[in-house]
Amino acid sequence: MPFRDDFLWGGATAANQYEGAWDTDGKGASVPDHCTNGSHKTPKRVTPEFEEGTLYPSREATDFYHHYKEDIALAAEMGFRVFRMSINWTRIFPTGMEEEPNEAGLKFYDNVFDELKKYGIEPLVTISHYELPYALVEKYNGWYGRELVEFYVRYCRAIFERYKDKVKYWLTFNEINAGTTPMGTVLSLGTIKGFNGPVTQAPDEPAVRFQALHHQFLASAKVIKIAHEEYPQFKMGNMSIFATKYPYTCNPADVLECQKQMRIMNWFCSDVQARGYYPTYMNRFFKEKGIEIKKEPGDDEILKQGTIDFYTFSYYMSSCESTDPEITGKAGGNIIGGVPNPYLKASDWGWQIDPKGLHYSLNEIWDRYQLPMMVVENGLGAYDKLEEDGSVHDGYRIDYLRQHIEEMREAVEDGVDLMGYTPWGWIDVVSASTGEMAKRYGFVYVDKYDDGTGDLSRRRKDSFFWFKKVIESNGEDLD
Ligand code: BG6
Repeated sequence: MPFRDDFLWGGATAANQYEGAWDTDGKGASVPDHCTNGSHKTPKRVTPEFEEGTLYPSREATDFYHHYKEDIALAAEMGFRVFRMSINWTRIFPTGMEEEPNEAGLKFYDNVFDELKKYGIEPLVTISHYELPYALVEKYNGWYGRELVEFYVRYCRAIFERYKDKVKYWLTFNEINAGTTPMGTVLSLGTIKGFNGPVTQAPDEPAVRFQALHHQFLASAKVIKIAHEEYPQFKMGNMSIFATKYPYTCNPADVLECQKQMRIMNWFCSDVQARGYYPTYMNRFFKEKGIEIKKEPGDDEILKQGTIDFYTFSYYMSSCESTDPEITGKAGGNIIGGVPNPYLKASDWGWQIDPKGLHYSLNEIWDRYQLPMMVVENGLGAYDKLEEDGSVHDGYRIDYLRQHIEEMREAVEDGVDLMGYTPWGWIDVVSASTGEMAKRYGFVYVDKYDDGTGDLSRRRKDSFFWFKKVIESNGEDLD
């Protein structure tokens, strides 16, 4: 059997895209609560004030808040062993700045963890998954404000203490390396004080982004240190986007360009989080960009003391790097930029599908860190058709996942220590990049649409029954 006996099969979600109940039981507004809906063609907008008559899809999302029992029962029916979810920071600290946590918010997650336990499902909790309290954007320009480090530590202390007997696996920040690119500005860093407009036009200042990232590194390291000292039962992980890059040709100039982009996008953040220090290759990048990271005495020590126990990542696509201006002109197929790979096909949203890239990435990451790993997001965002009899025939999703699981199997055969796999949006949720419902990933269909209609009822897609079999056979039966 290539996969370990205790392999963590499950699915992933994030509170801001799934939970809804955005102002229930004392919850405050987070950045996504200020984001309107959008589409592949029209970017969603951030509005500091709520506009009457505008749809803010995260506010209701697919309403896990009121469906958690039903949803966890569905996850259990598929045989989930792990349930990746996130805690809404604003449910616990509505503005992020309170001295004391909100009891009603804490209670909600108690209920969720108890329900999971009933079925023997292990929670895997992302502490901050694009859910920054909006009040921290207004007051401190998001993570650019160093003050956020202590607010985050306070939040973590509250949830660590409360859930110390219920949660073992924690991820400090979702896709922390989103902050190395402009696309991280809104959801990941929240450095958008006063900004009103399409997310694609959010002000991009690399010096601000990388400073904000420094604060996230400190916050992550500080709470990992606390966990290691006070909660030795915890396992603390990072979470990075692994956006695999290939040289467009074997021209050594392309190979070097690819190496450079791989370092900045894919390795920088996890090098800091896994090794405990800034890699030297960033010095040149910072110099060329005129970026000077403001560090306080002791920062380097903090980074050293808070390194991760396991490495997790999202994997959806790959792209190519080229130095030829004729070729680079064609970039932009994927959300992560880069030149489309002529050997690959893309999803309806232009994300290039590359299962072998997952095999390659797992080997690369393993060779670099020798840490246990987990693929905590992967999947196909697609248009699904709900048939009159309530079925959804999503063979395309099964094909995508099957090919990726086959390649994970190959990587395990190559010697990679893989702990688990949680495909993204195992139940339909709002899309993070576009704010759509039409871009669905789930094994479970949720009756919710882009105009805000839908009765939120749940239906099993074909992929639901397929994934159940996959788990039952521990990844052997992929037919
Ligand atoms: C990752 C995020 O970027 O990809 C998720 O961690 C997100 O929050 C997922 O939903 C898929 O992206 P999208 O834009 O298709 O929802």
